[in-house]
Amino acid sequence: MTITFADKLARIPGYKAGVPHGKAPEAISSEDIAQLASNESPQPPHPRVIEAIARAAVASNRYPDPDATLLRRRIAERFEVPGGEVAVANGSCEILLAASLALCEPGAELVYAWPSFSIYPYLAPLSGAREIRVALSDDDRHDLDAMLAEITAATQLVVVCNPNNPTATHHRSERIAAFMAEVPDHVTVILDEAYVEFQLAEDPDATLDLRREFSNLVCLRTFSKVYGLAGLRVGYALGSSRFRAAVDAVRQPFSVNAIAQAAAAEAIRHSDDVAERVERTVAERIFIEQGVRELGLETSDSEANFSWVGLGDHDETALVARLAERGVVVRAGTPLGGPGHIRVSYGTRAHNSRFLEALDAALNG
Ligand SMILES: Cc1ncc(COP(=O)(O)O)c(C=O)c1O
Repeated sequence: MTITFADKLARIPGYKAGVPHGKAPEAISSEDIAQLASNESPQPPHPRVIEAIARAAVASNRYPDPDATLLRRRIAERFEVPGGEVAVANGSCEILLAASLALCEPGAELVYAWPSFSIYPYLAPLSGAREIRVALSDDDRHDLDAMLAEITAATQLVVVCNPNNPTATHHRSERIAAFMAEVPDHVTVILDEAYVEFQLAEDPDATLDLRREFSNLVCLRTFSKVYGLAGLRVGYALGSSRFRAAVDAVRQPFSVNAIAQAAAAEAIRHSDDVAERVERTVAERIFIEQGVRELGLETSDSEANFSWVGLGDHDETALVARLAERGVVVRAGTPLGGPGHIRVSYGTRAHNSRFLEALDAALNG
């Protein structure tokens, strides 16, 4: 007898990381390679966070706090919400996967936009739900009316990525509020706000107020982006206490390790550092957007830490390869659902300059 695996395996797309193959992390963070493919922070964690990591490492012989009590309390204080409404997990990806398992069964429906974050296509095969993908509108934003039109009595979960990965576009909180007003109460809406701190269009916390009005709204955030902790894997969700209990019930008990808990609990105390990181990111955003447009390419006004660049008649595969030859790693648009594009994350000024020089050479060389 040969071993057979579950049929759903064939429907799981598989995640391709943006990390250059065969490269050690030390090489990736050096000047050797401009790693602009994973929407990470180019800055290391705050020095106090590194100290907290070192302190926590000493107690690695013990299991972590399964309730992440300190971390959840700090998140609750920061956003002035009850601790029972804060879910934490091994990256916000784990919360997405857990939410789909906790909410969906075969026969349930799940709605999300496309192109959007590449983990969403995992949710239906894993949970048994039927997925409905809704195309973005012509301006590369979520078509919220079209998403509403797909909601039925069977819909259990809708995911809205705002700002959207990979297009870097955004809807204001008033638009989200108008959308929520039309969503029936039986549907949970996860507003994936992984990049929300980088948006300038409005206060990043504006959407959190909507939770008072809409108990079916979950705001999903992460320590992987603005806090520079992608390597430690901590995400959190502000939702109802029932949502938190459901996520906790399906994820493994010790999913956020002790070092990650300590790091995130320290990081969230440094709001000045966050503001500074955002300022630097916005300076790099302006630099890249201007540079890309001067080279004759189109890019939407980004509200995130990356740009989505339309390549016009240029060949995407050839261009990505030419950039890689010059040590610049970006994401090709096709696997992200947007052929004819690249997605470039903002790195240090040196890496961003190198990207623009390599882009110029690849287009005109
Ligand atoms: C939209 C979006 N949501 C969530 C995540 C995952 O974040 P985490 O590292 O917290 O799992 C990403 C990461 O790239 C993302 O782009």
